[in-house]
Amino acid sequence: MVSATNGLHHIRVGLEARPYDVAVGAGASSELASLIPASARRAAIVTQANIGISVDPGCEHRVFEVVDGEEAKTMSTVEDLCRDWARWGLTRADVVVGVGGGVVTDLAGFAAASYHRGTAVVHVATSLLGMVDAAIGGKCGVNLPEGKNLVGAFWQPHGVICDTDHLATLPPAELRSGMGEVAKYEFLRRFDAGDTGWSSNGSGGVSLVDMDRVGQVAACAAIKASVVAADEREGGLRAVLNYGHTLAHALETSGGYGLRHGEAVAVGLVYAGELAFRLGRIDDAARARHHQVVADLELPGRLPEGSDLDELQGLFVRDKKALDGVTFVLDGADGVERVTGVEPALLRETLEVLR
Ligand code: GLY
Repeated sequence: MVSATNGLHHIRVGLEARPYDVAVGAGASSELASLIPASARRAAIVTQANIGISVDPGCEHRVFEVVDGEEAKTMSTVEDLCRDWARWGLTRADVVVGVGGGVVTDLAGFAAASYHRGTAVVHVATSLLGMVDAAIGGKCGVNLPEGKNLVGAFWQPHGVICDTDHLATLPPAELRSGMGEVAKYEFLRRFDAGDTGWSSNGSGGVSLVDMDRVGQVAACAAIKASVVAADEREGGLRAVLNYGHTLAHALETSGGYGLRHGEAVAVGLVYAGELAFRLGRIDDAARARHHQVVADLELPGRLPEGSDLDELQGLFVRDKKALDGVTFVLDGADGVERVTGVEPALLRETLEVLR
């Protein structure tokens, strides 16, 4: 649905207990005040210096800046934020506003989930990755020295803003990284239930590759909204959002080889396509489509030079004692789904193909 008044897309995340809207489009930040809960007298705005975007929540507000980068996602930052909010007098009826990429929305969401055992949060996603993934769906958390996102919660936002004007401020490499997640959604279009107010399957099923930027963000948000509404806490279906991520996480854990997250996802998508083809789950055209989508979006589709295949394969197996092979999210006749028991020899053979 495109609102008649301002030309923005409003996508409904139709959770029964707590439905909310994602506003997408150029200038969508102007909607922020309308997403603030009526009970809020104050808004605590959480952001990072390098984001450089100021917002107006339409009520008394104060900016709480956290350090730049992933270093902000710690328990001690959560403690600092909560103590600063308590000293300021932020109440449970007030609101937290996260302004930034996935780091900020993960952190602000988790601090809000913890403060007074749950304070409303609204996200203003400023990166492409944040707009199409991190800010929607309520997953939030922080890292521990022992691993990423080890402490977290499901805390659904009150609303999400995806102001595509903000993408103009992103470094090109950051934008490219976000395109890796857009590529993922191209293979998840069948999960768009068509009841979010915006359908990626409309307009004769135009590929995400051929949409303009606003269309891409809206389409990805609609697919994510449908999946989250069907399976908020990842009891099953939500795992499809991890399509391409098994190899991506292995690449990132093994040092990243200079790849950004979305680039690693792109390689992971091609790998998943090749694996599904070798398992007889998809035909050659579907296999080739994985290569094509990634190439059309100017993303890498091969393993980086010098990749250590033994290490990557080892990282697939979280439980080293698992006897029934590895679990992957793979395409097939019924679409992308979780597949168990993929044989190690096939995983290796397919890694060799992407060298
Ligand atoms: N980023 C995957 C999810 O939200 O489930």
